[in-house]
Amino acid sequence: MDSFEFNKIAAALLIAALFFIGMDKIADYIYEPEKPAKPGYIVEGVAQDKSNDKEDLKKEVKKADIKILLATANVTAGENVFKKCAACHTNVSGGAVKIGPPLWAIVGKKQASYPGYSYSSALSKIGKSWTVEELDAWLYKPSEYASGTKMSFAGISKDEDRANVIAYLNSLK
Ligand code: HEC
Repeated sequence: MDSFEFNKIAAALLIAALFFIGMDKIADYIYEPEKPAKPGYIVEGVAQDKSNDKEDLKKEVKKADIKILLATANVTAGENVFKKCAACHTNVSGGAVKIGPPLWAIVGKKQASYPGYSYSSALSKIGKSWTVEELDAWLYKPSEYASGTKMSFAGISKDEDRANVIAYLNSLK
């Protein structure tokens, strides 16, 4: 083999090598590799990215909201919103049971605890107290808060109205 022949082969190999390296780079460019949401392996001591835990995030935002909204809530406006509730709930001390239990002094009270009222198991099994956060979640969508509740009320989606009526409920004491 003369040196000319050898050079030809070497050049061909070099071109082939460059071609493959180039293809790899181009492929990376076209098919941007997607990173998996969760790493396939967990490195001890490295914090995991929880930012796609959207549900948790929503809950936190909502909790912050009601406290902020209550700071500027209006009891008189809330009394007006309460007209939606008045068909089923009394709002006075010693008030009677209507379709729903009396709501006097409801804020801070144990849930489903009005003596003698026959609550749905959906509500009574929750077993919390009516803090402003719980009332906020309940009044946003009763059927979601306590699936199977007998309070047939769609809920108040407007944040301001919900905050106002909670401020009003808080004044019933
Ligand atoms: C159509 C009738 C109806 C309307 C309207 C209604 N409620 Fe109720 N409410 C009920 C019933 C029935 C229950 C009992 C729910 C159960 O046992 O699942 C209840 C339960 C409640 C409770 C829990 C009481 C407790 O003792 O734990 C609160 C708080 C409450 N309602 C607030 C409201 C507010 C505030 C409104 C208006 C924004 C409203 N409700 C509108 C019927 C109604």
